[in-house]
Amino acid sequence: MSDKKEMTGDVYFPTPEVVQSAHIPDYDKVHDEATADLPGFWGKIAAENFEWYKPWNQVLDDTNAPFYKWFINAKVNIIHNALDRHMRTATRNKAALIFEGEPGDTKVYTYQQLNYEVCKFASVLRAMGVEKGDRVTIYMGRIPELMIAMLASAKIGAMHSVVYGGFSTEALLGRIEDSSSKLLITCDGAWLRGKTVDLKEIADKAVERAGSIQNVIVVKRTNQEVGMVAGRDHWYHDLMALPIASATAATEVMDAEDPLFILYTSGTTGKPKAILHTHGGYMVGTATTLKWVFDLKPEDVWWCAADPGWITGHSYIVYSPLINGATSLMYEGAPTFPYPDRWWQLVEKYGVTILYTAPTAIRGLMRFGESWPNRYDLSSLRLLGSVGEPINPEAWRWYHRVIGRENCPIMDTWWQTETGNFMITPLPSAPLKPGSATRGFPGVQIDVVDEEGQPVGINEEGFLVIKGPWPAMLRTLYKDPDRYVETYWSRYSKQGWYLPGDSAKKDEDGYIWVIGRIDDVIKVSGYRLGTAEIESALVSHPTVAESAVIGIPDELRGNVIHAYCILRSGVEKTEQLKLDLKDHVGEEMGPIAKPTVINLVDSLPKTRSGKIMRRVLRAQTLGQDVGDLSTLAD
Ligand code: PRX
Repeated sequence: MSDKKEMTGDVYFPTPEVVQSAHIPDYDKVHDEATADLPGFWGKIAAENFEWYKPWNQVLDDTNAPFYKWFINAKVNIIHNALDRHMRTATRNKAALIFEGEPGDTKVYTYQQLNYEVCKFASVLRAMGVEKGDRVTIYMGRIPELMIAMLASAKIGAMHSVVYGGFSTEALLGRIEDSSSKLLITCDGAWLRGKTVDLKEIADKAVERAGSIQNVIVVKRTNQEVGMVAGRDHWYHDLMALPIASATAATEVMDAEDPLFILYTSGTTGKPKAILHTHGGYMVGTATTLKWVFDLKPEDVWWCAADPGWITGHSYIVYSPLINGATSLMYEGAPTFPYPDRWWQLVEKYGVTILYTAPTAIRGLMRFGESWPNRYDLSSLRLLGSVGEPINPEAWRWYHRVIGRENCPIMDTWWQTETGNFMITPLPSAPLKPGSATRGFPGVQIDVVDEEGQPVGINEEGFLVIKGPWPAMLRTLYKDPDRYVETYWSRYSKQGWYLPGDSAKKDEDGYIWVIGRIDDVIKVSGYRLGTAEIESALVSHPTVAESAVIGIPDELRGNVIHAYCILRSGVEKTEQLKLDLKDHVGEEMGPIAKPTVINLVDSLPKTRSGKIMRRVLRAQTLGQDVGDLSTLAD
């Protein structure tokens, strides 16, 4: 560890108490051990902290790289470690999940109670013909049944494909079709800012057009009127009251490398990619990273304020807290409902000790001023976390001073849907610099390189790379292994490095500063959106012939979407049409994908091969130099 005096920039050092109580007080020692023998490092962790039906005969198989395999021939089920094994210990009677709904209703599930619900729902799924390897699409609000549905699917060896409840018909349809799911689990509606979102209605539109869905299970949440199609749609509570909902359900014995879930995420071109994660490696990686980075202790109340519909929720609401036997808080609604103090009230009410959220949420709450958090006793907090996009130093300092009362180190964790778990992150014992995610998790070799793979100079921008495999890594893109190799492993195929698609800098102390995406992925309020999906939503409107969308920096949301559209001949350019197009994207994709600005134009800058030069649009919009235009067609 660098000496205090030696580090450059604005550095926050941990207190001796924080270092002493940390699971990993000495990063360098552990990182060096992991680097010297990566399979040995993970093999030891896997053996000491998890139960396996049958152990592996080899930790890592890299003979068919980049199709790496972990814990070869081991038998396991992540649910055995998340639930089953806790039934034998005192953890059984501990709160696994504390839920607070937006309207103020609350519900607590002990491990025993959660397991009971999961067993019953697993039995229901089996009775409905869901088998090992089948895909189950889940489209719900942030409620406990979403978690129960995911856990029950995993228990019987089916792969869940969760579609974020903020997405709309088109996005849901594409994901159902690509995964050819037979079953959809949804709810009548979801609470958001005192209103309801009509999830069942949106789901119906998708199911009518998707050929594969045979059954729809509907959880009652908002009690709103919904249409139920006889023979196809079933109420969750009705099914759970039937004798088929048996509380004795066996956990399917899985191979460590068997798929656990797919989760769609946006990529550079074309349709979203189905990231595939497995039972063994994902279990070991997510649980270990949570324990070490957030220094999880039995008495903690962990609050990951993300949505289970994204990877952050999969890894750090649903799976890893349960594997660690932790108590988690889940809150259904908006941070500002009914007032901008809701989150701080929840911290006080439940004695939250660790809060993990996104910079966009912090910036949003910062706008309302300090008086809202200052009314509450936030002294239970001991650690804070950030994820999803670079955190600007101003938001970091506010979070540290106002929410953490200068007592809580901030773990700025960089990772992706693909990586499954934290990759660049401080441990609580690390000196922190606002805006830097610091260094690789022990064993993760991070670098910043140029096109050829040569390390760039100190504080120079380059491509972020990960030099080597890790247990929770994606195994492939579902049904598209070629695209997996092409997207992540082709640029540095000679070296065998993984390309995350981010640009970054490395400073004098070896700390990484992530800058942003190098591809056409736009991060809006931390949500990952692909230009291709938004563009196809725009051209699905009868007036639009062609479109291009770009991300433009925004103080609150990180980025906002600007769209350029060429209209079909004869269509008039009107202000009303711009509004209609925004709404259309909202209906097709979901409110988060709505462009803030629509420009109606006569042409788009393209290369001679017909590729839209978004870089030129972006520079023009920002009033910057458009740079080299030699490849421009026109
Ligand atoms: O650009 C990086 C950004 O989010 C991308 C991954 O998005 P997604 O797969 O949706 O997963 C988000 C939650 C894990 C990355 O390629 N990103 C994520 N965390 C950070 C970040 N950028 C900077 N700092 C972070 N802490």
